[in-house]
This record gives sequence, structure tokens and C-alpha cells, in this order.
Amino acid sequence: MKVEDIKNVLIVGSGTMGQQIGFQCALYDCNVTLYDIKKEMLEKAMERINRIANRMIREGRITQEKAQEAISRIKTTDDMKQAAKDADIVSESVPEDPKLKGKVFGELNTLCPKHTIFTSNTSTLLPSMFAEATGRPEKFLAYHFHDIRMTNVVDVMPHPGTSPEYVQLVKEFAERTGLAPIVLHKESIGYVFNYMFSGLFESALTLASRDIAAVEDIDRVWMGIMRAFIGPFGLMDSVGLDTVWHINNYWAQKTGDKQKIRNANFVKQYVDRGELGQKTRKGFYTYPNPLFTSADFLKGIK
Ligand SMILES: NC(=O)c1ccc[n+]([C@@H]2O[C@H](COP(=O)([O-])OP(=O)(O)OC[C@H]3O[C@@H](n4cnc5c(N)ncnc54)[C@H](O)[C@@H]3O)[C@@H](O)[C@H]2O)c1
Repeated sequence: MKVEDIKNVLIVGSGTMGQQIGFQCALYDCNVTLYDIKKEMLEKAMERINRIANRMIREGRITQEKAQEAISRIKTTDDMKQAAKDADIVSESVPEDPKLKGKVFGELNTLCPKHTIFTSNTSTLLPSMFAEATGRPEKFLAYHFHDIRMTNVVDVMPHPGTSPEYVQLVKEFAERTGLAPIVLHKESIGYVFNYMFSGLFESALTLASRDIAAVEDIDRVWMGIMRAFIGPFGLMDSVGLDTVWHINNYWAQKTGDKQKIRNANFVKQYVDRGELGQKTRKGFYTYPNPLFTSADFLKGIK
């Protein structure tokens, strides 16, 4: 298989990340199918893709015409058989649970053509945790996106059983679709950036869950000193607090660590209230104009 043979992209899970990945691939001439178990998510996904497109037009990154062409290349379905039948590559973005991911790939394996490449956008799991369940471990690897509204860096991370040919193919596919791939030599929980950043998230949550400082002040300190446009809690809102909770809860349960459990519970309060961050317009901050973007937020800090 050559990179130019990858034409049809199947996105599995059309939430925060599936929408972004689908739109990025469509911008670079791929035919994209968004698949989700929830019909209402597919409708929301197309609304949000339109919003992402409008933002990119406003920022001068794409033209209206290019956006419309890309959107016309995206179709949606809740029928897995239909979605899988002509996929050249799968990008999976279902919730962060190795059992669920393994089950979804196992089903896809029976429905996709033999040549289909399987990739997971997992944030913190290792592909080897569910490689066997995919039924085609040699054609499976992690292909991980950050927020495409902020950066085009992507991680390409094989597990020990991935064939090097597929690592190269996915790297070339990333380049062909306007991305900057970082190929990891071996598996790493959180890849490169998230590995470094998970420490910051955990520290920020520990400070807040122990009521040492307010959420806004923790972000203020980070933004003021690092000259950053966003702090850890603003970033967690953009990730989605349900996803942040899933990740924290997974490791809290796995390790039994008391502080990790406290941090997961701190995030859970927001999730229980349906405050999931940017996607529900409320999380640690209220959107579309969160406090940390106001001119006064860093007032007095030099
Ligand atoms: N949010 C981020 O910033 C971010 C960044 C990088 C990677 N990730 C990873 O991407 C994955 C998805 O995260 P997200 O934030 O997009 O989640 P999300 O909750 O926004 O979306 C998940 C989607 O998957 C769908 N889904 C659930 N079960 C399914 C199934 N069996 N088949 C098909 N669809 C199913 C849900 O209906 C939902 O639409 C996770 O593994 C996460 O760790 C997230």
C-alpha cells in the first residue's frame, strides 16, 4: 500500500476529537465518514465542524470555498457495516477505555477490508493494551492528535508488533494531510507532550482539590510566568472534563493512589453537573468568553 492509496478515512467516535480529525482529513482531499453510536452526536459533530471551519476562515487559515469543499466530503452514519466497507484508514476516538477500544476494533476487523490501517487517538493508553483485540496488530498503531485549532503536531506511536511499513505509511499520511508527525521509537504513556503535561495537570488538580488556591489563580500563575495564552484548567476545559475525568479515574482506580482519587473526584463534580468544558459552554470557565481571555485576567502581573 502507498500513501496515495489512502483516500477513504473512517472516523470512529464523532466527539471533540473525531470532529477535528475528520475535518482536517477532509481539508486535504480525503473522503471522510464519521461514525458514532449516537445519532444526535453526528448532528452535533457537523454543527461543530461548521464552527471549526468558520473559526479557521476568520483566522485567515482557509477560504470559505475550501471549507465548503471539505465539509461536502464528510458524511455521517450510525451504521458500522456501512461505515467500514471501503475504509483505507480508521482513526478511532471513542472514550478512553481499553476494553471499549478493543471491542470496537474487534468489530471493525470483521467489517473493514483486509488492507485497512487501524489507528487509535488514545491520550494515555498504550496501543499494546488492545493490539491483539484489533485482530490485525501489525497494521495497528497510535496516531494521536492535539487540538487542531492550536497545533498541527501529531504523534505516531507503534507498539512492539506494529510493522515498520505501517509506521512509515501513517507518517507519510500525516504529512500529506498538513500535519507535523513526531514518530516515537517506543511506547510511552502520554506520548511526548502529554507525558510532560500530565504532570502539570496533576499538580494543578492537586492544588485545587486540596483547596490550596483557586482554579483561576492557578491558571493566572502559569499564564503570567510562562507568558502563556492558556493555563492548565483552561486546557482541561478544551480537552473536555468527561475525558479528563475518564483519564484521571482510570489511573486512580488502577493505582489506588489517594491523591489521584481526590483529583478524579474533584473533576467528577463538574461532570455530574453536565459542565464538560468548552463543548457544553461551561466547565471551569464559562464560554464563549472565558475569564482567562479577558484583558484584566493578568492585571498587575509583569
Ligand atoms: N479531547 C481531547 O482533547 C483529546 C485529545 C487527544 C486525544 N483524545 C482521546 O480521543 C478519544 C476521544 O476523546 P474525545 O474527547 O473526542 O471524547 P468525546 O466524549 O468528545 O467523544 C467520544 C465519542 O465516541 C462515541 N462513542 C462511544 N462509544 C462508541 C462506540 N462504541 N462506537 C462509536 N462511537 C462511540 C460517543 O458517542 C462520543 O461521540 C479518547 O481516547 C481521548 O483520550 C482526546
